[in-house]
Amino acid sequence: MKPKIFVTRKLRDEVVSKLRDQCEVFMWEEEDIPVPREVLLKEIEDVDGLYCLLTETIDKELLNKGKNLKVVSNMAVGFNNIDVNYATELGVAVTNTPGVLTETTADFTFSLLMTTARRIVEAEAFLKEGTWRTWSPMLLTGQDIYGSTLGIIGLGRIGEALARRAVGFNMKVIYANPKRRSDLDEELGLEHVELEILLKSADFVSLLTPYTPETENLISYDEINLMKENAILINTSRGGIVNEEALFDALKQKKIWGAGLDVFQQEPVSLDHPLLSLPNVVATPHIASASINTRLKMAHLAAENLIEVLNNNNPKHLVNP
Ligand code: DGY
Repeated sequence: MKPKIFVTRKLRDEVVSKLRDQCEVFMWEEEDIPVPREVLLKEIEDVDGLYCLLTETIDKELLNKGKNLKVVSNMAVGFNNIDVNYATELGVAVTNTPGVLTETTADFTFSLLMTTARRIVEAEAFLKEGTWRTWSPMLLTGQDIYGSTLGIIGLGRIGEALARRAVGFNMKVIYANPKRRSDLDEELGLEHVELEILLKSADFVSLLTPYTPETENLISYDEINLMKENAILINTSRGGIVNEEALFDALKQKKIWGAGLDVFQQEPVSLDHPLLSLPNVVATPHIASASINTRLKMAHLAAENLIEVLNNNNPKHLVNP
């Protein structure tokens, strides 16, 4: 008998057939609507595996209902939506999809940095609204990228990929990370610094650290107060790493210059969120890894991880400690 799995979102046919080859598949058939919690709580009761997205909260209540559950496969590199410690206690494997989204996410992070620095969204609206009268010396002037300092908080795979791009743009790159990466310091001329130094000296601060209890609200009033007046904050990690009230105050009072935000504490962010009212914020809907190829690679990798566990093999990417 094939193991039973529940998939929390409609996936491309090629991924579903890969899963169907090995499993009996039950799937939430909507592409753009998350599975309601009550449906998930019911479906989990009877399955051996769960294929989920970052939109689902896999907590104690849910895990306790999964009496036959052997694996939770998250189609994301981040896994803050899952209570991994509790899953581990129950003997449930948790897997994720690192690696395949690194370059795409770094591409997006760098483009969000450039878009925010050069006010591209504002400029397009200015033109399309018919406000453009003439070329003027200081019209829509932004911040320079070349020659500036990028501070990366969290130098993992994506941080490294971003650093490589930044060096190519003639930026100086400093980073705050639990571990010093001497190999990269030597190869790319990076500099490992304390968080406080990074915040005081960077023109761009990019958040690329995992979201954990330790990094929740990592950037709040005190930290933002250290930042330069021309500084731009770029967040392509998780919204909870930043205190959004503190960020709003700082942007409104022009204590810092701008922010490029792909992630928010609550997603989807509500349209009346104060941050969205600011002209110096570029906001996107959590799409840093959203290239067609990369999203397909993530979907396939999540399927492979799940199948490996159900076949009693080691998955490529196990998250449990
Ligand atoms: C992840 O994988 O964690 C991203 O946030 C979505 O690609």
